[in-house]
Amino acid sequence: MEPVSPADLTRTVLDRHANVPDVRLKEIITSLIAHLHAFATEVRLTEQEWAAGIRFLTEAGHITDANRQEFILLSDTLGLSMLVDVINHDAGEGSTESTVLGPFWVADAAWRENGAVIGRPDDGEPLHVFGQVLDLGRTPIAGAVVDVWQASGRGLYDVQDPQQPVGNLRGRFRTDAAGRYDFWTVRPLAYAIPDDGPVGKMLAALGRHPWRAAHIHFKVSAEGCRSVTSHVFDAEGGYLDSDTVFGVKPSLVRTTSVVAGAPPAPFTGDEHRSIEYDFVLVPK
Ligand SMILES: [Fe+2]
Repeated sequence: MEPVSPADLTRTVLDRHANVPDVRLKEIITSLIAHLHAFATEVRLTEQEWAAGIRFLTEAGHITDANRQEFILLSDTLGLSMLVDVINHDAGEGSTESTVLGPFWVADAAWRENGAVIGRPDDGEPLHVFGQVLDLGRTPIAGAVVDVWQASGRGLYDVQDPQQPVGNLRGRFRTDAAGRYDFWTVRPLAYAIPDDGPVGKMLAALGRHPWRAAHIHFKVSAEGCRSVTSHVFDAEGGYLDSDTVFGVKPSLVRTTSVVAGAPPAPFTGDEHRSIEYDFVLVPK
């Protein structure tokens, strides 16, 4: 009898899935098995390497909890999250491009009035962010929801940092009759993704850094439109070419301007930075 070859085994495993009742599940699992087997066969995966892979995934599971999602970090740092984004959000010409959601979005963030201050002087330099939500014909959309979140100057989101009040640097705004939104925050700084776990070890082994380009997160939605999950990146914040999660798209980069005029309390000083940023949504 001929010994079993890798190709024989792959065929046997695929045959076992010939009758998966759900058509889409069958497509996904058979493709996953085929690619996983092809990968192991191609690199001639050793038993030690297989065991190291299992250990890695086990550690990722152990470090994951309600506030720490190592599997999203893994997906992000391998570019899978951005690939899924690019496959699923073919932005129409002129509409705002999407990028990764990341692990720090919170459902039901507090509603804030336009013009509200969402950050503290301790978090960084005052930044005024404002603009309009528009449709493809550049008509303003009233009542659109602009959900915003960002890290403090220490590189942490409120949900990761006991030194920040809950909801700091986070909030939901509704556009006014002219489609305008407006808030005061701090200038975002580049930050390292949590690198004290298996994904951090992986990046170090690969000779990669854990830094994300400086950004503010947005999730913008309006009735009758496709919502967009995106960032605005600070052109001068660094790491635009090596963002560790591959999240930078050129259309999302903006330069902040320095503007004369005191920012609202509790900020002080007689000037501040600002970004005017419009979102363009496509119809559903
Ligand atoms: Fe982020």
